[in-house]
Amino acid sequence: MSPVVETDVLIVGSGPAGASAALALSTYGVPNIVVTRYASLADTPRAHITNQRTMEVLRDLGVEQDVVAQATGQHLMGNTTFCTSLAGEELGRVRSWGNDPLVQAAHELASPTRMCDMPQHLMEPVLVDAAVARGTSLRFQTEYLSHTQDADGVTVTVRDRLRGDSYEIRAKYLIGADGGRSKVAEDAGLPMGGQMGVAGSINIVFEADLAKYTAHRPSTLYWVLAPGATVGGIGAGLVRCVRPWGEWMIVWGYDVTAGAPDLTTEYAESVVRQLVGDDEIPVTIKSSSAWTVNEMYAETYSNGRVFCAGDATHRHPPSNGLGSNTSIQDSYNLAWKLKLVLDGTAAPKLLDSYTAERAPIGKQVVTRANQSIGETAPIFEALDGLSPQTPEQLWANIAARKDTTEAAEKQRARLREAIAFKVYEFNAHGVDLNQRYASDAIIPDGTPAETFARDPELHHQPTSRPGARIPHAWITSGTRTLSTLDTVGKGRFTLLTGIGGESWVRAAAAQDIEIATVIVGPGQEYEDPYGDWARLSEISDAGALLVRPDGFVAFRHATAAPDAGTLLTDALRQILGHA
Ligand code: FDA
Repeated sequence: MSPVVETDVLIVGSGPAGASAALALSTYGVPNIVVTRYASLADTPRAHITNQRTMEVLRDLGVEQDVVAQATGQHLMGNTTFCTSLAGEELGRVRSWGNDPLVQAAHELASPTRMCDMPQHLMEPVLVDAAVARGTSLRFQTEYLSHTQDADGVTVTVRDRLRGDSYEIRAKYLIGADGGRSKVAEDAGLPMGGQMGVAGSINIVFEADLAKYTAHRPSTLYWVLAPGATVGGIGAGLVRCVRPWGEWMIVWGYDVTAGAPDLTTEYAESVVRQLVGDDEIPVTIKSSSAWTVNEMYAETYSNGRVFCAGDATHRHPPSNGLGSNTSIQDSYNLAWKLKLVLDGTAAPKLLDSYTAERAPIGKQVVTRANQSIGETAPIFEALDGLSPQTPEQLWANIAARKDTTEAAEKQRARLREAIAFKVYEFNAHGVDLNQRYASDAIIPDGTPAETFARDPELHHQPTSRPGARIPHAWITSGTRTLSTLDTVGKGRFTLLTGIGGESWVRAAAAQDIEIATVIVGPGQEYEDPYGDWARLSEISDAGALLVRPDGFVAFRHATAAPDAGTLLTDALRQILGHA
């Protein structure tokens, strides 16, 4: 066996979770190695919806513009269409992904970033390139086999798939970002809730110029309600845009109890023809693969020095587009904690907050995504399309909505209502942005529990409560306009205060740990010309917010405090696991 290779953090997997863990750790100067089983990064589009929170993470990690440069913009994402085929009848649309004018305004108010469509085979190279440029060592064709851990570290056995031999890597911490069939999570014995293999799905990646059916109603998703579309899958047949309007991916279900069909090119073409509905358009099948809809989440994300992130801990269908978003956000939550523990600033106890903060989010995401599949059924019901019937009967039911009868008018209303309800899948701004953390790394400020003024799944509610991400407000510094989110992050804590907050500034400077200070007010380094920060900060000018490196508020004090030094020292002791 070759000599042992050593590093601080070994990451298994180069998907969104592993690549972003590597990027964050290298950005923070933590030595890390990524091992990944295959010879290349993702070679199919897979995840694509990239929400504002993820874009904020990527902004902090310095790759937001690299993503924007390659992504399909938000304005081309949002006419989610329900139809009998692309060439067939349209049943209705949902303005999605922030393209409803009111939701668009909410998106603009919520974040300095914009949602976009960034297919996974384009996203992974951006993350990995930046990670490697900043110090990550990446080993392709290297398969994780097993690990053992002791008080000082983890010894991982990997197999070099080129040479065929195995060797050991010794790391202080191991991150299992090895996807939905995670062997790291299994070997670490992470307890899982839920079930795998709930339904069967097939992805068919193809090229075809479909502009004549799509350019006038630009969207990321076209849902097809046709015979067979309720079998397995993700609620209906799906034609998903990979690159407008020539690259596509179809998601089509199969009966999981019967097993996946034989994925021949002829079979793939027949599915494409059915969903596109035009036999004349040239189609090139690129690939097809079968996968299952899962509903599973880990109750605990770590065991000792082994941490899991991404699909290793939450496994769910693509509905709501949450998979890679949640994976990237997991890693961002974990990376700064590992950094501070590794450099001795924090006690290992800080790492317990990873499960406490991310496991509830993972469970919520798994539940939401599966619920969204079920919420497609009322659209079929409105067309009397759920009961067993011949294709002719289904087409007749669909045609019946055009009648002049009272029954047809009721059917049209039911259909409109059922389609409109899908905002919970396609415009759930609150699901994207209302994450709240409760853990020992968050210090409640004694204010009453938060109540949401509007539906928390649909609407973002900004707050500076400890456990929430710092609200976004445009502020200025000289001639520069920047977001409050731009003042935090970069691997360090930030203290925000205003005029009269000198005691907080002194307290921050006196700590052993680097804390950036941001004073907002007239004549200060940062000004609030629109008054947005004054409206959103929920503290008086002389109060203070202590924001963690991941942009979440850890401590809040609404007013000036003569004993700011003691308050801040105690808060940091608890946050960093020393209390
Ligand atoms: P991922 O599976 O991407 O990566 C795992 C990595 O581990 C790979 O690099 C693999 O090679 C490696 N690996 C596995 N075992 C290993 C071993 N033993 N040794 C070494 N390496 C190993 N999500 C989203 O946010 N928005 C969306 O719109 C969609 N849409 C979507 C559509 C479809 C059709 C699918 C199937 C999925 C989505 N998703 C999604 C989900 C998304 O693809 C998924 O959640 C992420 O890829 C998860 O990222 P991870 O990095 O956790 O795992």
